Amino acid sequence: MSDTPHLTIVNHPLVQHKLTLMREKETSTAVFRQLLREISQFLAYEVTRNLEMETKRIETPVQEMDAPTLAGRKLALISILRAGNGLLDGMLELIPSARVGFVGLYRDEETLQPVQYYFKVPEHMEDRMVIAVDPMLATGNSSVAAIDLLKKSGAKNISFLCLLAAPEGVARMKEAHPDVPIVTASLDSKLDANGYIVPGLGDAGDRMFGTK
Ligand code: URA
Repeated sequence: MSDTPHLTIVNHPLVQHKLTLMREKETSTAVFRQLLREISQFLAYEVTRNLEMETKRIETPVQEMDAPTLAGRKLALISILRAGNGLLDGMLELIPSARVGFVGLYRDEETLQPVQYYFKVPEHMEDRMVIAVDPMLATGNSSVAAIDLLKKSGAKNISFLCLLAAPEGVARMKEAHPDVPIVTASLDSKLDANGYIVPGLGDAGDRMFGTK
């Protein structure tokens, strides 16, 4: 379900129910991880809706037919470390032949700007649909930096998939990368003074990996 062409909120009852369970602070690490995996598949379904198709001739037990099949190179799923990995696992169950890349960024404590510490992506990025994944689109700083890097690697057809988005992050992404559609399960109210999404679900990485 689309609000603007740039932002799609997957307002499906199962997604919203699972998201509520994830938000609850008493939800265990194991359940949180499982729910993220499940929701990621609904988000993946939405973000891949317009993949290019072609037909191939096949034979069913009954007759021959021209059957639809995905066209072009395999997708590239790019996890923005570390929380992106929680979305990646579920998406790979749905799209097992996808290629996978990783972008590692940390925040410089003085400049507060994202600094790259790891970058590894598949070949031929220019020919692939590229889906960057990070559960939380908060300030948008790291997402914008990750997309910058993906574009430098040649990617032209990029989408961004997240579990929760803050209006601030959506606006920042739209300004920096208006060509990158965003798919999310919820557009929350705002960011707090510490950069957490409100009402949010806390630190996604900590909740998924059981760290503090
Ligand atoms: N990252 C998180 O994990 N949670 C937030 O609320 C914002 C950024």
